[in-house]
Amino acid sequence: MELVGDRLAGSDRPLEYDPLDPVVKHEPYPYYVELRRSEPIKWLPSLNAFCVATYDDVDTVLKDGRTFSSAQFWPELLGEFDPMPEELPMISMDPPGHVQLRKLANKAFVPSRIAQLKDRTYKISHELIDDIIAKHGTEGEFDWAWEFTALYPVTVIAEVLGVPTQRRAEFKVWVDKILSAANRAAYEADQLAGIAEASEKMRAFFEELFDERAANLGDDLISTLIQAEVDGKKMTRNQVLSMAILLLIGGVETTTNLLGTTLVELKRHPEVYRRVRADHSLIAPLLEEVLRYNPPVQIIFRHTTADTELGGVKIPAGSAVMPILASANRDETKFNDPETFDIDRKIDVPLMSFGQGPHFCLGSYLSRMEAKSALEVAFTRFAELDVIDDHIHWLDSYFARGPHTLPVRFKAA
Ligand code: HEM
Repeated sequence: MELVGDRLAGSDRPLEYDPLDPVVKHEPYPYYVELRRSEPIKWLPSLNAFCVATYDDVDTVLKDGRTFSSAQFWPELLGEFDPMPEELPMISMDPPGHVQLRKLANKAFVPSRIAQLKDRTYKISHELIDDIIAKHGTEGEFDWAWEFTALYPVTVIAEVLGVPTQRRAEFKVWVDKILSAANRAAYEADQLAGIAEASEKMRAFFEELFDERAANLGDDLISTLIQAEVDGKKMTRNQVLSMAILLLIGGVETTTNLLGTTLVELKRHPEVYRRVRADHSLIAPLLEEVLRYNPPVQIIFRHTTADTELGGVKIPAGSAVMPILASANRDETKFNDPETFDIDRKIDVPLMSFGQGPHFCLGSYLSRMEAKSALEVAFTRFAELDVIDDHIHWLDSYFARGPHTLPVRFKAA
């Protein structure tokens, strides 16, 4: 395929950002540099949206939920395949309604509670690696993206939600199908029917799980959400169901992609890999730099509720606006030498990788903890774990970033 380097070599014209262009999807970062330099708020005809490229403008959009609404985010992502269309999830609610629900959800996600899950994340990592060794032997090749990273976060969240072990495989299939609804415009009728079926089954499954838990509360997340109370108010049954579905959809592919991209960056930076291998305390700063440099969520979505102006550009009411989190993370006015991958960097401003403002990711602590446990276990169990190919097959998406497949060579320790 054509690469951005070929394109630059062949022309002296500035790079034209079109998120749907395959060359841009493969390597968007040179385009983000150009956007920040020449047109930080840009109209994108292919998506009928304005994109926003600098740190300060992204920050403004994310912190002003009244002007830049989230209401259309979920309906546009899942369309008619939303398992709970009658109950918008928190990620698609604006202030003030969002605030109450967020307070209730925070009760279930306090760091001390998440920290209690750490042992389970180690156990799940070990079990997945046992399976890999049982299948491939103690040395050889396997696909890190499919055989580890795709299975791990969904298993963790299933355990957290209290999904019975025997239902896990089914559960994973539904999650994948529902997530694929984001690409529904390109699908044939039989694929769409498969998504609709998964959506119905997942809803029925959670309805049953809710009723079971409500009658017999446990220490799982659904039970915690049922009991959480703020100002004398609890979540309704539909709110708990919608929250459980959101946690799955928000928490699975993102963490999968973080773990995939981390191995890619270690392939690209062998000196960093040597250091991290020798000293596992560097795993946390490594993950922070991957989150900054090549984040799983590149772009999120808002709609303007009124005529407004951003960075000197007039944006009419009802416009789609796309803050590019991955570009904000490389803004040269906020990060020193931003195009360099540096796990020792000192960071003075919050990363944009988990968003900002009222919708700041509820799972940021969980995903960092999960990813750290997985890498600690993988680097202990595998004496060698190396991405084979320099050419990475990235997901075909302009907003989600991670390797689609990632063949690795391994040797058990
Ligand atoms: C590396 C992993 C992750 C990344 C990069 C990520 C990224 C994000 C981003 C950018 C947002 C803001 C969306 C917006 O403003 O419209 C968000 C929100 C959210 N994330 Fe994550 N996420 C990750 C993992 C997780 C996990 C593990 C969970 C839960 C299990 C989770 C649950 C949520 C929820 C519930 C929200 C909505 C919060 C609200 O609306 O108040 N995320 N995430």
